[in-house]
Amino acid sequence: MRILVAQSGGPTAVINASLVGAVKRARELGHEIFGGIYGIEGVLKDKVIPLLQSELELEKISHTPGAFLGSCRFVLPEFGAEEYDVLFKVFEARKIDAFLYIGGNDSMDSVAKIYLEAQRRHFPMLVIGIPKTIDNDLVETDHCPGFASAAKFLNIVASEFVIDSIAYSEPSISVVETMGRDTGWLAASLKLSERLVKGLKTLIYLPEKPTSDEEILSDVQRFKDGPLLVVVSEGTVDEKGNYLKSTPVLDSFGHPKLGGVGEHVASLLEKIGKVKLVNPGFVQRAASHIVSGVDFQEAQMVASFAVDSVDDGKSGFFVAIDREKKNYLSTAKLVPISKVANKVKKVPQELLDNDMRGFVEYIEPLVDGLPDFLVR
Ligand code: F6P
Repeated sequence: MRILVAQSGGPTAVINASLVGAVKRARELGHEIFGGIYGIEGVLKDKVIPLLQSELELEKISHTPGAFLGSCRFVLPEFGAEEYDVLFKVFEARKIDAFLYIGGNDSMDSVAKIYLEAQRRHFPMLVIGIPKTIDNDLVETDHCPGFASAAKFLNIVASEFVIDSIAYSEPSISVVETMGRDTGWLAASLKLSERLVKGLKTLIYLPEKPTSDEEILSDVQRFKDGPLLVVVSEGTVDEKGNYLKSTPVLDSFGHPKLGGVGEHVASLLEKIGKVKLVNPGFVQRAASHIVSGVDFQEAQMVASFAVDSVDDGKSGFFVAIDREKKNYLSTAKLVPISKVANKVKKVPQELLDNDMRGFVEYIEPLVDGLPDFLVR
């Protein structure tokens, strides 16, 4: 079998671990494996290379940030467009038997479209989507590879930063901005920081709970005298659903470019105290030096499972992660791609209730290797 794999959307610290998982499993099963450069956008231009890296090179790739093959934010047009003729000519010329696409919810739209187009053309190519996103917003899966490593990085950085900012007798209000688009999984993950810094209070603002400048000010007023971490997700909205901060620029999927809400909140809070702001930005998805071991292993597992699935003749699916609650154990399973494409999973209210106890239970097993600080 000749398998083509490509990467799409924003990278994560473990997206290359998935790539390597696919390459290794394909080799074990005796298949040939090829890489599409710059995602489907590159495949359309016939940018396809054989993946012939040595074991040592694969090992290095799996710990390297970014997308080894290159990525894209590219929306395939609706059916009937000439792009499909171009794309399927490439698949045909390269004799591709299976296409694996590692990506988030927008990329799963491409998987769904390519799968349907292959069926329409009676083209004998299998298609499977492999999850990745720090945003953790794919439906039908317990969580997404990439999320736990970004959460681990954010918790360590935020805790270290808070500890630094309480060094003086007058503590500063620490503010951190997280990514996550229209979901607050990454912002909510910072609840774990309360475990890392004794006496820390986190105030977390996320898209699932609309807020306002006034509410943030009054919450902070109540807690500003102790160690305080104000977390604000880039996609936080007001009661009318407007972002507290966004730019008029749209990405190629038509999403507004987010970012900058941390600065907005910090300048607001300067009215009532000393404020220190950290915006980890893209580092939160590139911090490969600090990946969660569970995340790394699962990133390989989902890709390896995708190869097993095409080896088994499966097509039109997405690889989801299931969790067994007792003694955390995760397994991979197939879900029809139509159930996943373009859908967004928000943080459920029950995980946020009761001082986020449910959320902490959900995330704790995913983020291993957190430090053990001691503050006075
Ligand atoms: O979807 C992953 C993500 O990192 C989001 O959290 C963020 O809003 C976006 O990508 C940034 O994307 P880009 O790399 O296109 O600027």
